[in-house]
Amino acid sequence: MEFSIKTGNPEKQRSDCLIVGIFEGKKLTPAAQSLDKTSGNALTMAIKVGDITGKLGATLILRALDGVNSPRVLLVGLGKQSEFGEKQYRQAIRAAFKALPDVVSSVSVFLSEVPVKKSSAQRLAAGAVETVLDATYRINSLKSKPAKATALKQVGIFVAKSDMKSAEAGVAQGLAIAAGVTLAKNLGNLPPNICTPTYLADQAKQLAKDYGFKVEVLERNNIEKLGMGSFLGVAKGSSEPPQLIVLQHNKGKSKQKPIVLVGKGITFDTGGISLKPGADMDEMKYDMCGAASVLGTFKAIGELDLPLNVVGIVPACENMPNGHAIKPGDILTSMSGQTIEVLNTDAEGRLILCDALTYAERFEPSAVVDIATLTGACVIALGAHPSGLFSNQDALAKELLAAGETSHDRAWHMPLWDDYQNQLDSNFADMANIGGRAGGSITAACFLSRFTKKYHWAHLDIAGTAWKSGKEKGGTGRPVPLLTTFLMQRAAKLSK
Ligand code: BES
Ligand code: MN
Ligand code: ZN
Repeated sequence: MEFSIKTGNPEKQRSDCLIVGIFEGKKLTPAAQSLDKTSGNALTMAIKVGDITGKLGATLILRALDGVNSPRVLLVGLGKQSEFGEKQYRQAIRAAFKALPDVVSSVSVFLSEVPVKKSSAQRLAAGAVETVLDATYRINSLKSKPAKATALKQVGIFVAKSDMKSAEAGVAQGLAIAAGVTLAKNLGNLPPNICTPTYLADQAKQLAKDYGFKVEVLERNNIEKLGMGSFLGVAKGSSEPPQLIVLQHNKGKSKQKPIVLVGKGITFDTGGISLKPGADMDEMKYDMCGAASVLGTFKAIGELDLPLNVVGIVPACENMPNGHAIKPGDILTSMSGQTIEVLNTDAEGRLILCDALTYAERFEPSAVVDIATLTGACVIALGAHPSGLFSNQDALAKELLAAGETSHDRAWHMPLWDDYQNQLDSNFADMANIGGRAGGSITAACFLSRFTKKYHWAHLDIAGTAWKSGKEKGGTGRPVPLLTTFLMQRAAKLSK
């Protein structure tokens, strides 16, 4: 799909469909007014007979309007003008593109010229690109008769002439984020017999080739040499070999300390010997979405050629219950030297992350952010809207929260108080790997915090946000927008 920034009158454009907006209270946007005038009040008539009111996300297609060169005009409701912000703008664009007839291949969008609260031409253009590519995403399915791909090829985003430059920068940004989101969705949606730890490693190697990243993939013998007894404990129950993937994007100053992203890469989580119930277990193919978000974010910063040093670490393995699998009661020795009593083999994410977090120390990071589908408890606490955010440094937490707001990929700050730590007490080892039902997402974060004392660290629990269940089952690509925006903001700060 091609996006271009344009300027001009709507009635003059020759595309398969024009998209214009109408606010509640029957108020047409300037482009809609212009079309109304040329067409002898066709839009006013549609309003008058009650076919459209301006309710946010409502749509109506008018055809063959007098004096209009394009055969279709799609009117989309923008809601109350006094409430029109980026969120509503994105919602309207999503609704409009979802309502497009399948045959439409070129579109001219006239929604980015209306003033939007607390926004800019650049952000509106980026938002349009991200939203369109999200709304028109098709799962790369393995159906023997694949669904037809979208016919949509060209999207013109119309802006005021003075805004063209910044809007073009916005398109580039939006394309980069969308490419990262799409990669993360694709990886998440793949079946777990294809998306294995080795497959993730191959993807990282491919990214390294495409964008010039440094890549290193450590196999079982090297992981053993590092002393990652906790990670290897989880990997033991599976015949798929574990992989420790390390990507580096070194486009910052040579002395600049890197930001390290660590992604949970459990390519299937059966629970291990503490086997999960059968219902919905297929969704545990998404347990590698933390890893997918790291790879997706690398794709985005590669596209942007972001002037920053970034390291990505992905511990990848399956959590399976074969005869070699770890058992409840087993004690593992982590790379940090701390010992862990495994009381539930289904709390495996923290077991692979803790060793990756210790490994992160060698990069002398300015900050480490881990991303993990870590706990069902996080979904109970926050639902599917924000990711859970935990941090040992408030300034870092604030940065990530702000990046989430900016990118419409929000997180919510959760407590990481010492008060919770004793829930992890064990009579037999330095700690247990579970802390009981109360505050399950918090005790999981507390567990990780014991391995991140040497640097500023944040943890994003994406169990509720990484994929959707039910009829719309599929990866969301979150939190690639949040992470990419965080890195862009860091890069901007450092170049000042
Ligand atoms: N991958 C799961 C977390 C999960 C479950 C994410 C459901 C999304 C939906 C994780 O490995 C896990 O199984 N966590 C356990 C921890 C418990 C044993 C302390 C959980 O949340 O039940
Ligand atoms: Mn689990
Ligand atoms: Zn898991």
